[in-house]
Amino acid sequence: MRNHFSLVVWARLVSGQLHRLSSSIAIDEITTGAPLESFVSYSIEFSSFPDFAGTKASPNGFSSTLLNNLGYLQGSNPYIRVGGNTQDYAIYDANESLPLRGIFNTSRSSDYPTTITIGPTFFEAYNTWPKVKFSHGFNLGGNNDGRVLETLNQTVPLACKALSNGNLYAWEYGNEPDLFATSAQGPVRPANYNESDFVNEWLKGTRTIKDLLKESCPDLLGNDTYEYLAPSFAGTNNHLKAPLAWSDGLSTDGNIKYFSSHNYISGATSLGVTLQGTLMNHTRTKQSVDAHVTEYNAIKPGVPHIFGETNSLYNQGRPGLSNTFGAALWVVDFMLYSASVNIQRVHMHMGTNYRYQSWQPITTNSTSIGTKAPYYGNIAVAAFLGNLNVQPVRVANFDTGGGDHEAAYLSYVDGVLSRIMVINMNEYNYTLNGTGPGLNPAARPLRTYSFSVGNLTGEASVQRLYANGSDAITGVTWDGWSYNYELDAGRPVRLTNVTIGEKVPITDGIVEVGVADSSAVILSLLV
Ligand SMILES: *[C@@H]1O[C@H](CO)[C@@H](O)[C@H](O)[C@H]1NC(C)=O
Ligand SMILES: *[C@@H]1O[C@H](CO)[C@@H](O)[C@H](O)[C@H]1NC(C)=O
Ligand SMILES: *[C@@H]1O[C@H](CO)[C@@H](O)[C@H](O)[C@H]1NC(C)=O
Ligand SMILES: *[C@@H]1O[C@H](CO)[C@@H](O)[C@H](O)[C@H]1NC(C)=O
Ligand SMILES: *[C@@H]1O[C@H](CO)[C@@H](O)[C@H](O)[C@H]1NC(C)=O
Ligand SMILES: *[C@@H]1O[C@H](CO)[C@@H](O)[C@H](O)[C@H]1NC(C)=O
Ligand SMILES: *[C@@H]1O[C@H](CO)[C@@H](O)[C@H](O)[C@H]1NC(C)=O
Ligand SMILES: *[C@@H]1O[C@H](CO)[C@@H](O)[C@H](O)[C@H]1NC(C)=O
Ligand SMILES: *[C@@H]1O[C@H](CO)[C@@H](O)[C@H](O)[C@H]1NC(C)=O
Ligand SMILES: *[C@@H]1O[C@H](CO)[C@@H](O)[C@H](O)[C@H]1NC(C)=O
Ligand SMILES: *[C@@H]1O[C@H](CO)[C@@H](O)[C@H](O)[C@H]1NC(C)=O
Ligand SMILES: *[C@@H]1O[C@H](CO)[C@@H](O)[C@H](O)[C@H]1NC(C)=O
Repeated sequence: MRNHFSLVVWARLVSGQLHRLSSSIAIDEITTGAPLESFVSYSIEFSSFPDFAGTKASPNGFSSTLLNNLGYLQGSNPYIRVGGNTQDYAIYDANESLPLRGIFNTSRSSDYPTTITIGPTFFEAYNTWPKVKFSHGFNLGGNNDGRVLETLNQTVPLACKALSNGNLYAWEYGNEPDLFATSAQGPVRPANYNESDFVNEWLKGTRTIKDLLKESCPDLLGNDTYEYLAPSFAGTNNHLKAPLAWSDGLSTDGNIKYFSSHNYISGATSLGVTLQGTLMNHTRTKQSVDAHVTEYNAIKPGVPHIFGETNSLYNQGRPGLSNTFGAALWVVDFMLYSASVNIQRVHMHMGTNYRYQSWQPITTNSTSIGTKAPYYGNIAVAAFLGNLNVQPVRVANFDTGGGDHEAAYLSYVDGVLSRIMVINMNEYNYTLNGTGPGLNPAARPLRTYSFSVGNLTGEASVQRLYANGSDAITGVTWDGWSYNYELDAGRPVRLTNVTIGEKVPITDGIVEVGVADSSAVILSLLV
């Protein structure tokens, strides 16, 4: 990589005066991360996968379109991790005629079934979306069902055949085993279950998987195909600790190719959770992500660090928060902060009817099919990174001096600054004072951001992530594009009521852009 000294100066325009808040930073002085291909990826709840993917006879084309939109921007389609709590409930039944039959027990969860049988057609879903790679999650937790090892033996051949068309990303064995002894959905291991117990089970099970692959899918045993996401722990401070799992030998077989962590910022029903204080809060996001970086650095697993399952508020999100445009701004801050500290791929979790989902794949009693606000955050991140397969970037977080409610990110191509993302997370709730005749919201504050960009000249182009306010759950656009279902089933449609094609001059090495409260902007310099 060329070691260009790219000068970036942050300054804030206060009543016409340029106040420099920090002098300069250089690419070789700041921490940058290198996102992998398909950085914007998803995790789909195992029990919801048939809804998202559809069947061989009737693939879910809406989901496919939304994945392709991201592929167009970032150079390859999102990778899909199929897993979550329900992967550890799935029991195979060769006679099951449905892909998946789920029974709800609302005292365990009202969002997903907690008794699940899958049939042979479950695996068809892996061949519904072209150009998408998947990880399949095998059942380790077992749900206190004696058929779990038999299920492993029965499902490996089916999963591997379905994933033999260049569509395999990795395997996963068990979801959040650090909670097996303590799970709120019902413990599946004794209270004294420890890291050595987990490592023994994991090694035994993955060796069984390997033996079964030798028989059924020997082509998938190459170094670049036989891979696991692990340890898939829920957090850094639960009943099991990842550093102990590593020192107890989890990586003995050399098959863990991604150190996969899970993260949520807080919980859907946790006290004190607000949009401004919890999600539209860069300080909170940074703290949440940094704990994982500390853990990873302590282990030094020698493989990329990814978020294999993550989203805003655990327990599937809270309506009015996780499904708002403010949450889309959180998505941008969270994903790019993760990229800047070298978490190299981020799988945003979703399931049918979940409040934090990027899209709802089908219409149900509670939720209509549609593109949800967080998807627009995914789109803005993909656009900011660009085609990672053709032009890899490095990403840096940049302290704007704006406190909890602002964040900026720099993207470098070959060490040269190419794009700047500014996220203005100051809350603008447009329905706060009511809507309707005679009730007009107060003017939306606009903050001006100025950057010194060295000796660049000419113009920078401006693309905006926009909606009426942080509380909007619809009417979101990125650069004037809507991906809403009701317009063209998720294909991009350019709206006419949003400004596009903006350019700002670079004058004496300074570029300046106005960003409305509760919105984000991408400045592209090398145009
Ligand atoms: C599946 O159906 C066959 C034929 O009816 C039966 O013999 C077998 O026991 C069934 N298997 C299971 C797992 O129920
Ligand atoms: C539902 O879950 C609760 C809590 O785990 C359990 O006590 C109850 O027996 C379950 N009900 C059924 C019908 O399985
Ligand atoms: C699963 O298959 C392995 C061999 O691949 C065998 O040793 C084991 O007994 C089988 N387990 C069950 C429960 O069928
Ligand atoms: C886990 O518990 C077993 C006994 O059940 C013990 O032999 C082992 O040392 C423990 N491992 C750790 C890491 O505490
Ligand atoms: C497979 O990967 C391991 C560890 O990364 C390496 O030691 C080994 O040489 C590789 N084998 C082949 C056939 O590439
Ligand atoms: C943002 O998060 C930090 C860390 O949790 C917290 O100390 C701070 O009070 C939060 N800011 C607001 C405005 O709630
Ligand atoms: C949806 O609502 C209908 C009518 O109330 C009901 O019969 C059906 O069971 C519901 N479906 C689900 C999946 O809850
Ligand atoms: C926006 O304001 C309305 C009216 O006060 C309130 O009901 C709503 O919860 C607010 N939205 C958010 C996301 O804070
Ligand atoms: C709501 O009303 C308050 C009090 O008049 C005002 O300060 C605030 O700016 C208004 N906010 C919006 C979004 O209209
Ligand atoms: C601009 O700065 C870069 C890096 O310092 C340098 O390589 C380049 O030659 C400069 N270009 C001009 C036109 O001065
Ligand atoms: C956004 O505000 C405009 C008026 O400024 C209004 O016409 C439009 O319906 C609003 N959109 C939503 C989704 O509320
Ligand atoms: C633009 O129009 C769409 C519907 O056509 C609406 O949802 C959105 O709120 C409008 N945006 C603005 C900024 O008025």
